[in-house]
Amino acid sequence: FKLTSVEEFEQATNELLENGAKVGADAWQFRVKNQTPHCKFGEQGTCCRICTMGPCRITPKAPRGICGCDVHGIVGRNFLRFTAGGSATHSDHGREICHTLHEADPNGNYKVKDPEKLIRIAKEWGVETEGKDIYDLAHEMSELALLEYGKPFGTQRFLKRAPQHTQEIWEREEIAPRAIDREVACSLHMTHMGCSSLPEALVRQSLRSGLSDGWGGSMMGTEFSDVLFGTPKPIETEANLGVMKEDEVNIIVHGHDPSLSEMICEYADDPEMIAYAKEMGAKGINVAGVCCTSNEVAMRRGVPMAGNFLQQENVVLTGACEAIVVDVQCIFPALGPLSKCFHTKFVTTSPIAQMPDAEYIRFNAKTAGENAKAIVKMAIENFKNRKPELVHIPHMKQKATVGYSFESIIKTLDKVTNSQVDQTGTLMPLWQCVASGVIRGAVAMVGCNNPKVRPDTAHIELMKKLIAHDVIIVASGCSAQAAARAGLMDKRAKDLCGAGLKRVCELADIPPVLHMGSCVDISRMMVLVAELAKIGNVNISQLPVVGCAPEWMSEKAVSIGNYVVATGIDTYLGVEPYVSGSTEVTGLLTNGVRDWVEAAYTVEKDIDKLGDAMLARIEEKRAALGV
Ligand code: SF4
Ligand code: FE2
Repeated sequence: FKLTSVEEFEQATNELLENGAKVGADAWQFRVKNQTPHCKFGEQGTCCRICTMGPCRITPKAPRGICGCDVHGIVGRNFLRFTAGGSATHSDHGREICHTLHEADPNGNYKVKDPEKLIRIAKEWGVETEGKDIYDLAHEMSELALLEYGKPFGTQRFLKRAPQHTQEIWEREEIAPRAIDREVACSLHMTHMGCSSLPEALVRQSLRSGLSDGWGGSMMGTEFSDVLFGTPKPIETEANLGVMKEDEVNIIVHGHDPSLSEMICEYADDPEMIAYAKEMGAKGINVAGVCCTSNEVAMRRGVPMAGNFLQQENVVLTGACEAIVVDVQCIFPALGPLSKCFHTKFVTTSPIAQMPDAEYIRFNAKTAGENAKAIVKMAIENFKNRKPELVHIPHMKQKATVGYSFESIIKTLDKVTNSQVDQTGTLMPLWQCVASGVIRGAVAMVGCNNPKVRPDTAHIELMKKLIAHDVIIVASGCSAQAAARAGLMDKRAKDLCGAGLKRVCELADIPPVLHMGSCVDISRMMVLVAELAKIGNVNISQLPVVGCAPEWMSEKAVSIGNYVVATGIDTYLGVEPYVSGSTEVTGLLTNGVRDWVEAAYTVEKDIDKLGDAMLARIEEKRAALGV
């Protein structure tokens, strides 16, 4: 067993770029060159354009905008708007899932696949479940969930899942999120011309807006996706471009919302469709994924993962992609023109993400079946348009075991239970492993790729370093896919671990990097740390656990960072947010917020140092706990 190296990834990418050159294809690698160096004002967050007296750019000679706002106010406002963009996005995805739940119907497109989980959440929310039809309950719960977005009073229902101490912090610091939409609207209001310019107030609202995502919108996205499509359990799959097949119709699903991809998978498995594909000269239909939509279907169905964020163009560059079907978020508009260089159909499906040079098949819960069928058919009929001389699939893939939801982590770790541990069905075994030092701690590896970092290197190198030091990894999003493509989710990767973690991997029969799902599923990690703190009878901030987004790029990532920090978990970034122009905002984020929420950010672009800093922090936490 051998990991796939980043050099091998790059070799494959170079071959694909050569393939693209034959047809004049553009790619991000070229556009990065055109865009570098980046605007300094933008990078430092010191450009304000929220009113038409500006735009105002802060320099030593012009230290204030026309309204008199100083650099700290400008940077703080930009940071808050950035966060609000992210929390709106995750939360709106969560809302779509709640609407899909409202459409659930025993005879319709969407069923309730995990009724137990629905009942569990209903009980948690104080909803009567006795004697109720499961679909009636689903509809009632979806309405309650949707109210979390706009209710006039109170805070998010899921906050009660946090340990008492954490809830008290949120109340004390006035960052307990109210209605989700209110936190987004309030953030826009606060950053309107002539409202807040006090960094403390802006950063505080950034935390609250983040929390409305992680413990609000994202958590609903995760929980009700599980109700609809099933709670993930360990399942085998494969990752990297080699999962595409030369002799089959390749349909790539890309984006974030599982409502679409689940339906596509259903119809791609339909015998009638497979027969049609054969009629059209293909051996079958192969669905593979990119980005989080891929994580969703990999976790629940074992659908292979073709690639992560910066691989999306590569999928088309193989010349073997009949259709790339997208829903929302992280989709390069470049896919439109790029698909025109090949035979690929670029299919947009959501009113939220409409792009030029695409075929728009509007997808909605009521007509989901027909829509999916039409898309699968379109892909099948496109197979004959492939140009054989342009087909180049890099034969590179790794095996991965994925599907580690919170529920399945508990079940799996029961196997580590020894005679001293009798609390099966809880996180006691994990706590025991951590407390005894067999596992030194855990790192949540999350987030995107960013051309500012050599793609995937930071994710993979950090994971290798951490597991060698007996630190277990929980991963999501593009970070998880980087791990899978490298081979770190193959159970044989246990040989790269320190002796303690290796033993745990053997006993529990797990890989050292646990795939917890998509980016909204970072909410699963929040539940995990909350329960671990409760069972260990410590505060979340005392756990030897940190978060890390070494290659992040999106607004969503900042929203995530803010809720992870606000939950009491130190967070390590490998890419700078646009705040370096203000010492005050930077000071708050990297230090000041610690007085409020017991955690803060660290930014370090040197990957090795970033890894050392995390390990040092984990050991510091252990020493403070006396374990
Ligand atoms: Fe300039 Fe103030 Fe208007 Fe911003 S709000 S553009 S700093 S005048
Ligand atoms: Fe994502």
